[in-house]
Amino acid sequence: MKNIVIFGAPGAGKGTQSDKMIAKYGFGHISTGDVLRREIKNETALGKTAKGYIDNGQLIPDELMIDILANVYDSFGKDHKGIIFDGFPRTTPQAEALKKMLHERGHKIAAMIELSVPEEELMLRLINRGKESGRSDDNEATIKKRLNVYHTQTAPLIDWYKKEGIHHHVEGLGTVDDIFERIASVVDKV
Ligand code: AP5
Repeated sequence: MKNIVIFGAPGAGKGTQSDKMIAKYGFGHISTGDVLRREIKNETALGKTAKGYIDNGQLIPDELMIDILANVYDSFGKDHKGIIFDGFPRTTPQAEALKKMLHERGHKIAAMIELSVPEEELMLRLINRGKESGRSDDNEATIKKRLNVYHTQTAPLIDWYKKEGIHHHVEGLGTVDDIFERIASVVDKV
């Protein structure tokens, strides 16, 4: 079992590279952004709360995110090949909660893979995606807020995972396939 945290700023390619990992390794996938967008679509209580935060480029409070984590993880059963955590954790309390939840099950994170991409490229990718997908948070003003939230609240996790000894840096510029080769060489050796 190889549980993987795929990490990076908005637009770094976490979702794109998760799809490639799922296809190659048969991993399960937890994208907290996708979970929240489904909740919004289904107009659940969580969705109604989450919408205001997402549209404003802010993080949903930790306690709400941590609450749903174990249930989503357990829905994959006990014998999975590994789960990709995409968009979680985004804060230190979330990283601690993830570690604890896995530890209670005798599991762990095998690797945290940080995709690094320059800010101008992130902005371009997200503006372009917003034009096609209509994602409500892919407009210039909200992207700027999301990047700011990433730098202040999420990027400190790079050091947190370095201390855990499982941080791997991957250059996130280039073709999707080239980047995936870099990721696969990490996944193959952990
Ligand atoms: P979330 O859905 O996780 O969004 P994000 O982190 O902002 O990431 P994105 O989905 O925008 O980017 P990505 O890195 O997956 O890149 P992608 O592969 O799509 O979260 C949304 C919101 O939900 C948050 O702002 C927050 O409010 C809330 N939330 C979620 N999780 C939370 C949590 N744990 N705690 C609190 N709040 C939470 O690629 C982007 C684009 O680039 C695509 O169009 C793609 O085709 C293109 N692309 C990909 N790779 C390349 C490449 N190599 N070259 C050129 N283009 C590329």
